[in-house]
Amino acid sequence: MSQHPQATDRTGPAPVTLAQLRRARSEGRPITMLTAYDASFARVLDQAGIDCILVGDSLGNVVQGRDSTLPVTVADMAYHVACVRRGVSRALVIADLPFLSYTDVPQAVASTRTLMQAGAAMIKLEGGQAVLDVVAQLSAHGVPVCGHLGLTPQSVHQLSGYRVQGRAPEQRRQLLDEARALAEAGIAMLVLECVPAGLAAEITRSVDVPVIGIGAGAAVNGQVLVLHDLLGLGSGRRPRFVRDFLAGRDSIEAAVTAYIHAVRERSFPAAEESYPDD
Ligand code: KIV
Repeated sequence: MSQHPQATDRTGPAPVTLAQLRRARSEGRPITMLTAYDASFARVLDQAGIDCILVGDSLGNVVQGRDSTLPVTVADMAYHVACVRRGVSRALVIADLPFLSYTDVPQAVASTRTLMQAGAAMIKLEGGQAVLDVVAQLSAHGVPVCGHLGLTPQSVHQLSGYRVQGRAPEQRRQLLDEARALAEAGIAMLVLECVPAGLAAEITRSVDVPVIGIGAGAAVNGQVLVLHDLLGLGSGRRPRFVRDFLAGRDSIEAAVTAYIHAVRERSFPAAEESYPDD
């Protein structure tokens, strides 16, 4: 058997690679990402042509019915990563390292091994200064790492709730510094969540990796949404950055295709779906 099965054995569409995502950034082509947690939805997203599928720890909220991501475990994540992986033939699969599963390098290595052996091609972790060591070590050992700054849901109690981050000048400076430090430590991608659009644009210009926004305006390199939000399944008040793509359409496939199209032509998010800087 070949040591490089992807190069010789595969039929069907070629898998999305990190190199392609970097090229998309440099050529100004928006990257599309959605969350999924099982094989059936992953297949729909994959067949619609999504670039990346994030197995987010948001599964704590939308699958498990919890009120935060904090109860999600590495075992929960591995189970859902394996489910998603079975539904995907093209998209790049990214997995969240859950709450307190990466507090030092040995723990992060063990958690990452579990998620990558379950089928993830990249892992995502939240935070800035506190995770630089972990990012440097994982990326030095061949693991693509996606950072996550702004509203980091695993810190919901420290942040006193789910709120926009980076409006105060000091916080703005800190987010810029942390994004640059993460890029220097070796992240391959960065997610910015609930950050004013101008700040997100400035961060995107300041780092050399693809920046994916959720509630971060249109001047980033791509967009991600939680699948359930895109399908109008959110409970409670709808956040400003969420658009229900199923409204007025008659299938999940049509909603996902409309999202991909809207991100690629930069009609999503609109200004009113983004946060102003002041
Ligand atoms: O867990 C998740 O779904 C996420 C996205 C909101 C980016 O981290």
